Amino acid sequence: MSNETILEVRDACITFEKRDSVVHAADHISLTMKRGAMLGLVGESGSGKSTLAKAIVGMQPLDSGQIIIDGLSQHDRAKLRGHARAEIVQMVFQDPYSSLNPRMSVGDAIGEVLETYEHLSAEELRDSVAELLRLVHLPAEVASKMPDQLSGGMRQRIAVAKCLAVRPKLIVADEITSALDVSVQAVVLNLIRSLHEQLGLSMLFISHNLAAVRYICDDIAVMHHGRIVEVGPAEQIVRSPKDPYTRSLVGAIPSLGDAGRDVLLDPALAAGAPQPEGQR
Ligand SMILES: Nc1ncnc2c1ncn2[C@@H]1O[C@H](COP(=O)(O)OP(=O)(O)O)[C@@H](O)[C@H]1O
Ligand SMILES: [Mg+2]
Repeated sequence: MSNETILEVRDACITFEKRDSVVHAADHISLTMKRGAMLGLVGESGSGKSTLAKAIVGMQPLDSGQIIIDGLSQHDRAKLRGHARAEIVQMVFQDPYSSLNPRMSVGDAIGEVLETYEHLSAEELRDSVAELLRLVHLPAEVASKMPDQLSGGMRQRIAVAKCLAVRPKLIVADEITSALDVSVQAVVLNLIRSLHEQLGLSMLFISHNLAAVRYICDDIAVMHHGRIVEVGPAEQIVRSPKDPYTRSLVGAIPSLGDAGRDVLLDPALAAGAPQPEGQR
């Protein structure tokens, strides 16, 4: 694996036994991702996206195959502890509640992550938290808020800030905009896009929404019934899909193929116009 490669999934298989059937959630999956890339993984619900995501972050064992991240196999990663382990890969989930402790202020939650690997004075800690909040386009005052005082979109941005606090080499974002209102989705998508440009993040961006994936990703992998059926540059996937399943995904969003405009995203939002969500 070259140093340019951040993630390599090699022939990964994961099956689940149901009462009278076997589900091949990952059916001989192979996938390579370059460092600094934004790779989209798209497919309908049940296609195996989350199972693959969990396998990448080590929450789901493989039946067979290998997942190499930053040159380290599952076996190598299992030997690491603390921040050395955490910085390899971090996941952001669909439900930001799951990564936020309801009894901990935003500042303490982000500060706790920073303190696992940096020895900072109280002042430095406050500055670092404010810097992370600034990165996700939130004012420093948000540090004193509790999660239930924030809107869904703000909570998701805090979850992104907490993830960035680790300075992970790879980020897996699983349906992070799917639970948000459409207008707020655009704000979060624009944030992810600008973070990618600013920080050169390596991110596997997972969504059932092809418009969202196409909007922010360089390349797209299409998943269907546990298999990757097509991988390629985002524009190519959308404009000249080769696999029949990809064609059906593109066809389901009429304006995507024809005009190249995303129905999901209002052009004003896509241009980054300030939203009430971002100002609250
Ligand atoms: N822990 C599990 N036990 C049994 N079946 C599972 C489990 N997790 C996922 N599956 C099954 O694996 C398939 C893929 O699910 P999932 O990875 O969640 O898909 P997606 O994220 O694309 O919606 C589905 O058929 C789902 O029911
Ligand atoms: Mg899923």
